[in-house]
Amino acid sequence: MSTASEGPTDGVWCIVVAAGSGRRYGAPKQFERNGDERVVDRSVRIAASVCDGVVLVLPSAAASEAVEHATVTVAGGATRSESVRRGLDRVPPDAIVLVHDAARPLASPELFERIIAAVRDGAAAAVPVVAVADTIRDVGGGVVDRDRLRAVQTPQGFDGAALRSAHAGAPEGTDDAGLVEAAGGRIELVEGEATNLKITGPQDLAVATLLAELADGGPDAADSRR
Ligand code: CTP
Ligand code: MG
Repeated sequence: MSTASEGPTDGVWCIVVAAGSGRRYGAPKQFERNGDERVVDRSVRIAASVCDGVVLVLPSAAASEAVEHATVTVAGGATRSESVRRGLDRVPPDAIVLVHDAARPLASPELFERIIAAVRDGAAAAVPVVAVADTIRDVGGGVVDRDRLRAVQTPQGFDGAALRSAHAGAPEGTDDAGLVEAAGGRIELVEGEATNLKITGPQDLAVATLLAELADGGPDAADSRR
């Protein structure tokens, strides 16, 4: 029989944050179409395929919308970190918690599974990262050694207690692993996916739509539509 001392007993829950305004995109990009479904619907569907529950954080005006595969929807806040906290309030106390950007609809179920496995193995935070392809220059002068750099993605996975204590005091950060690290937690880097792009500007949606076609139907499915 499972007891609290044996680890999380409430399963794995994912907070999908979708309450942004999409300033750089020019519209709330999470509601744009990505193939046969909206960006947010794809992100939630994939999260739900590997998690016991999904808390979807939406802009206040849309917060009562029922979204297929979302266990519960809740209104977000003015910043991403605040939106994560609103979602965290609805996660069962003893669950492993994933936090995922709705704007990353291409994260695969296999990536979610790798992140969950790293948390089960004891990481306070598990973070998908990819190598940086471009040469990076410090505007203060000089090229930065690219081999030491990684770009950070979501879904990020957490021991629930570590994530809650990192968010105590309402800190702000562009991701949650950074907050856990600042609070002294151990971060584990996990191989991310080059295809797991975040839709940021208008050009990203076209690429994401093509990648979704490839992921769902394979190259032949995309070829047959040309
Ligand atoms: N997000 C959120 N609540 C906020 C801000 C962001 O839930 N107050 C979500 C976004 O909806 C997105 C994810 O956090 O899924 C990553 O944020 P980002 O890509 O920066 O999206 P936006 O904040 O909407 O875009 P921008 O920064 O260009 O305004
Ligand atoms: Mg933003």
